Amino acid sequence: MQNAIKSYEDVDSWKTVMFLYTSALKEVGTKLEILNDEFQHVHQYNPIEHIKTRVKSAESIVKKLKKHGYETSIENMIKYVNDIAGVRVICSFTSDIYRLAEMIGNQSDLKVLAIKDYIKNPKKSGYKSYHMLVSVPIFLSDSVVDTKVEIQIRTIAMDFWASLEHKIYYKFEGNAPEYISQDLQECAEMVSSLDDKMLSLNEAIQACLEEA
Ligand code: GTP
Ligand code: MG
Repeated sequence: MQNAIKSYEDVDSWKTVMFLYTSALKEVGTKLEILNDEFQHVHQYNPIEHIKTRVKSAESIVKKLKKHGYETSIENMIKYVNDIAGVRVICSFTSDIYRLAEMIGNQSDLKVLAIKDYIKNPKKSGYKSYHMLVSVPIFLSDSVVDTKVEIQIRTIAMDFWASLEHKIYYKFEGNAPEYISQDLQECAEMVSSLDDKMLSLNEAIQACLEEA
């Protein structure tokens, strides 16, 4: 991390920017926890299994800017790198994902900048997840700064698949043998039908409990 930021003339502003992203992660993390707690309080049920947050490393930020043909500058990273602050929310069921996304979208201080629904439209790799790019206002002593956070919402099964695929992708530097990519796509389908089965099982359980 040290090496990558040495070239910046203004380390102070790098620090300020990273402070904003770290603060935005805290804000969004707290919002999600409150939604989960409220859900537990009202419905005696937790839609969220767990939450992971991370700030992108300086190396990864520089790599991404290069990949897209932008010069390394603080201005460019703020403008073009949308996932410097990232939150991953792992839910139990697919239905929880949409419920949660709607609740996030309804928060009046959050702006939803973009949505990518890779559950309805999975990637060619087989990747499934619901992505929301939001901005959250960070209140400083003399100003308010809207700061971007990428929220990825997925089920445990989707997360299981994505972690393995990510490892394989890196092992082969994006050039995995065809049969491996093929097998991974098949695994993605299995993961989807597992999610579907678990969801209908849960609905059946709920129906039984309501009758009882
Ligand atoms: P980057 O992929 O981050 O350059 O940006 P993008 O604009 O293409 O955004 P996208 O929503 O497609 O992906 C953002 C993030 O989603 C990635 O950084 C990964 O964390 C995750 N992701 C997207 N596609 C895949 C995939 O095929 N496999 C895995 N494991 N993760 C993926
Ligand atoms: Mg991508």
